[in-house]
Amino acid sequence: MKSVAILLSGRGSNFLALSDAIERGEIPARIALVISNIESAPGLQHAKDRGYKGLFIPSKGRDREEFDREVVAELQKERVDVICLAGFMRLLSSYFVSQYPTCIINIHPSLLPAFPGLESQKQALEWGVKTTGCTVHFVDEELDHGPIIVQRSVPVLDDDDAEALSHRILEQEHKAYPEALKLICEDRIKIEGRRAWIVGG
Ligand code: GAR
Repeated sequence: MKSVAILLSGRGSNFLALSDAIERGEIPARIALVISNIESAPGLQHAKDRGYKGLFIPSKGRDREEFDREVVAELQKERVDVICLAGFMRLLSSYFVSQYPTCIINIHPSLLPAFPGLESQKQALEWGVKTTGCTVHFVDEELDHGPIIVQRSVPVLDDDDAEALSHRILEQEHKAYPEALKLICEDRIKIEGRRAWIVGG
């Protein structure tokens, strides 16, 4: 049974999808801790409402590594094995990544390496792609960059605006993230270079 921490900055719908899957017994994990760098994040309130330990650690105006050291200290106290970034809108320092090599995963609302960064759904619409989606990947020091674990595709419709497209992608995020966390918690992922393989197919 892996001990999981979830880091978020906002709404927290991916946190809810992960916690639902864990509570249904679909993932061999327990949520040890939820951390938000935004005090008013609805996701932090959802965590507390569900009875999880929820911590606000302020990041505004602080040195990146100083913030990351405080987060890592809390993760170590709880002996966390896996860290899920779920709408956590901060780049991690090399210190943070080096403390948890291949143990940090992130979800991003595009088929990476297309449209990294902010407003990926708007970027996809503006580029005119016909298919976009979401990606769950390991986190390294570069933005939206590490080896890919799971991707799900979503069609872009002619009458889509950013909101409609975001909604359709989010539905797939809520399936992709639990699927990826399950594979990790079952020790079924092997990484070779940029490629993450599912052991046993
Ligand atoms: C999600 O769409 C997630 O993919 C995105 O933020 C949203 C968080 O929603 N993350 C990124 O863009 C990271 N680069 P949520 O708070 O409802 O889970």
